Amino acid sequence: MARDAEQSPSAGPIEGVYLSETLHLPAFFQAAFAPLAARVRLRLPHEIEDPASVRFALAWQPAADAFRPYPNLKVACSIAAGVDSLVACPSLPPQAIVTRVRDDNQAHLMAGFAVWHVVWHHRNMGAILADVAAGQWNWRGHPLHLAPANCPVGVLGFGLMGRAVARAVAALGFPVFAASRGRPETTEPGVTVLSGADAIRQVAARATMLINVLPLTSETRNVLDADLFARMPRGAVLIQLGRGDHLVEADLDVALASGQIAAASIDVFRQEPLPPGHRWWREPRILITPHLASDTSPEFVAAQVVETVETVLAGRMPFNAVSRSNGY
Ligand SMILES: NC(=O)c1ccc[n+]([C@@H]2O[C@H](COP(=O)([O-])OP(=O)(O)OC[C@H]3O[C@@H](n4cnc5c(N)ncnc54)[C@H](OP(=O)(O)O)[C@@H]3O)[C@@H](O)[C@H]2O)c1
Repeated sequence: MARDAEQSPSAGPIEGVYLSETLHLPAFFQAAFAPLAARVRLRLPHEIEDPASVRFALAWQPAADAFRPYPNLKVACSIAAGVDSLVACPSLPPQAIVTRVRDDNQAHLMAGFAVWHVVWHHRNMGAILADVAAGQWNWRGHPLHLAPANCPVGVLGFGLMGRAVARAVAALGFPVFAASRGRPETTEPGVTVLSGADAIRQVAARATMLINVLPLTSETRNVLDADLFARMPRGAVLIQLGRGDHLVEADLDVALASGQIAAASIDVFRQEPLPPGHRWWREPRILITPHLASDTSPEFVAAQVVETVETVLAGRMPFNAVSRSNGY
């Protein structure tokens, strides 16, 4: 099918706009899009003379009114797997298609990162490495009850990230319970998928370690709260890799203080970067990482965005489109 009438192939590259309130996107993507200059041209809002010519946006945490100047925008492409900041943007045109990055390698990276944290907590590596740093040869035993088979791991979300995480953790011998909204068509060996409105709570109730890779939606905001922690086995571990707004920070403090939650790994925060004075920097039971659980390359993003935009302008739905009503 040909590109729509307003932008025939002879019209030159498809016009796009970078939209972000928090990142200077050209610093990340300009070089990656350079070899694709014959197909798309991406510029910052102040560089665009004719906003009506803009057909797509490359976006991350756009300002509330960011989309307003572009009446002919067809597609808003997230620079990442998550689209929460795009679908929540009040000026996003109702008819615009929203797309995410779908990169299998990103899922593999996420799986490796999650497995690393599972092993870290399961084998008490924080204490072992502290001993080693102090020059102490302390053999910290590995009691039989800590056999992987006796440590069920919960995974919240069973999409691109959650499925890869669940598969990798199950391959180490941990029984895995995963939560999804709908019933997935296929599952993974060693993984029990629970679905429906109560799936998150049911998975948490079984999980000695709970890994969150849910998307941020109106249903999942604040999902990691006191009620969920109370359902988990006493002394459980939280591995939070989804979005900062999933976690009620004060509820985690209380659960850590009572011993209901023994330790946590947190990669994503309500405020990023985590402010220098934040109490968690000094909390030894929390392992902080700066939102790097998994990522994709600018070159991958650029190639997928160009394909996505061309697909949309040819009148087809791209494979990486999200459901705006679901919010992911
Ligand atoms: N920290 C990082 O570096 C990093 C990197 C990449 C991604 N992420 C985060 O990970 C999230 C997930 O990415 P993804 O690629 O796996 O997304 P995805 O492919 O869209 O999968 C989302 C999964 O969550 C499930 N889900 C959604 N709402 C639910 C609910 N209320 N109850 C139970 N299950 C629910 C979905 O179930 P159905 O399919 O049945 O609807 C699906 O299994 C992203 O949105 C992003 O926030 C973080």
